[in-house]
Amino acid sequence: MNRRLACLIAVGLGSLALVGCQPTAFEPEPAPDIAADIPAPPRTDLDVPYVATPMEVVDEMLRVANVGPDDLLYDLGSGDGRIVIAAAEQFGTRGIGIDIDPERIEEANANAEAAGVTELVEFREQDIFDADFSDATVVTLYLLSSINLRLKPRLLQELEPGTRVVSHAFSMGDWEPEAVIDVDGRTVYFWTIPEEVPPELL
Ligand SMILES: C[S@@+](CC[C@H](N)C(=O)[O-])C[C@H]1O[C@@H](n2cnc3c(N)ncnc32)[C@H](O)[C@@H]1O
Repeated sequence: MNRRLACLIAVGLGSLALVGCQPTAFEPEPAPDIAADIPAPPRTDLDVPYVATPMEVVDEMLRVANVGPDDLLYDLGSGDGRIVIAAAEQFGTRGIGIDIDPERIEEANANAEAAGVTELVEFREQDIFDADFSDATVVTLYLLSSINLRLKPRLLQELEPGTRVVSHAFSMGDWEPEAVIDVDGRTVYFWTIPEEVPPELL
């Protein structure tokens, strides 16, 4: 190799080093976190599927429970938030909705915003079986008989005497309701937590 060619090669290699033959200079940009933009898939582990209570039944549930501005209402499995939101709109009641499905929570928050009751209501993404609802004065339910029966001991032991419990469509086994009301072919059950809970109910 002649001297001129050797010089050219040396200069070329030097330039490569200068422009950074360091491996990091050519690493691709980190991929964008596209997972963050993809909505979570619908939950498949629901104890009860989402079906909304018709508004005339909601109105009757609130009426029979004599809901007022001093109450704290919990809807266990709150769906689109309609029971909690109706109580806030109609009676100025504070309410907490609990639902395990994030889609329902999003929907309920949007509905509360549209109804102008966000100051009074809160929606928690939570399993009802992990939730603390012991400060409720009213509990509403539209679940299933089997789920009501699983909740019954907790309702009877954790809620203060005098707390009202209302269920759309499903009873509580051997816990006799104080009222059973028909609304256009749908049934509303009503109970009050007693001072003394008979052991056979637990
Ligand atoms: C039949 S819907 C009732 C909705 C609303 N309460 C109403 O009456 O319009 C039952 C709701 O319970 C929710 N759900 C099911 N299993 C649940 C669980 N283990 N914890 C919390 N929410 C649950 C579902 O996502 C659904 O929104």
